[in-house]
Amino acid sequence: MTETAESKRNMPMRSVLLSGASGCMGRQLAAELARRKVPVLRLVRREPKAPEELRWWPGADRDGLVAAGGRGGGWVAEPERLEGVGAAVHLSGASIAGRRWTAAWKREMWSSRVESTRRLSETLAGLRQRPRVLVCASAIGFYGDRGDAVLDEDAAGGTGFFPALCAAWEGATQAAVEAGIRVVHLRLGVVLSRADGALARMLPVFRAGLGGRLGDGRQWMSWIGEEDAVRAFLWAMEQETLRGAVNAVAPEPVTNREFTGKLARQVRRPAWLPAPGFALRLALGEMADAALLASTRVLPRRLEQSGFVFQQARLEDALRAILGAQA
Ligand SMILES: NC(=O)c1ccc[n+]([C@@H]2O[C@H](COP(=O)([O-])OP(=O)(O)OC[C@H]3O[C@@H](n4cnc5c(N)ncnc54)[C@H](OP(=O)(O)O)[C@@H]3O)[C@@H](O)[C@H]2O)c1
Repeated sequence: MTETAESKRNMPMRSVLLSGASGCMGRQLAAELARRKVPVLRLVRREPKAPEELRWWPGADRDGLVAAGGRGGGWVAEPERLEGVGAAVHLSGASIAGRRWTAAWKREMWSSRVESTRRLSETLAGLRQRPRVLVCASAIGFYGDRGDAVLDEDAAGGTGFFPALCAAWEGATQAAVEAGIRVVHLRLGVVLSRADGALARMLPVFRAGLGGRLGDGRQWMSWIGEEDAVRAFLWAMEQETLRGAVNAVAPEPVTNREFTGKLARQVRRPAWLPAPGFALRLALGEMADAALLASTRVLPRRLEQSGFVFQQARLEDALRAILGAQA
């Protein structure tokens, strides 16, 4: 991330508690916080390997927790180490777009978000010195498949499993809200990253000249560049006026057809091989409709009203910045 007046400004928090730190967003956020010299305490699901790691059991049931050695029935080992942490960022969750949604995987997607959020919120609410803010990842999947409708944070949630999951995920912070912690639900669009996620999966296909639109390509895709996504998390931590749902998407969503054309131009390859909707459904089941073919045209109204300035507002700029010379 480039050095700007914004990034040089002192963070108001003493330290940041981070879950899901090994993921795409977590690694980048942790790196940026380290660059700003903000201490980070990571919640990890394995044996801690470093002093700044703390074991937690976001998915275990009560019996599993006791068997795993959870102390005093809590979801976090040594919860006293959380006293006085300035902010918490919760990114945990089993993969949404990476695989077929079987019944078992849907349960995993649900519990790894809703249960982990509830457990973290209850733990934070029980502290004597609570963090000022809890920023929880959420997703624009909240809005569901909405055609050409333009959606801001006041839009109602959609119907189906994914919107219900997002609503329950956001609702699971109730204990933190009631304890007076400022809670922000950052509803992320598709984060464009070279290393991980949707773009990273598409790149080899497009570079081989085998890319193409998904379905009829008319579905809206609301995206955000990885650098702006990290900045949005930091912004949400810093801006005292932000609470509740905040869309983290660039101000110019595109249709899948436009996205396909722009990515193909960036990698200088043709993209003439559409993936028909029926084939995607056959290969990926419900996930195809909910994540790849759903049309969700979202605007970042609250981020912009709070003064956030996107570094990559246009898709071409984001792709150039992310893919750079590699394209
Ligand atoms: N990237 C996107 O385009 C995007 C878009 C919308 C929403 N989101 C949401 O934003 C959050 C962060 O995104 P991300 O891209 O960084 O996700 P990610 O790369 O998939 O990382 C999520 C992290 O969650 C933890 N995790 C994985 N499986 C888990 C399970 N079964 N139970 C509990 N924790 C588990 C892991 O961290 P540890 O091993 O360190 O615990 C993992 O690294 C996720 O909840 C994601 O769904 C992302």
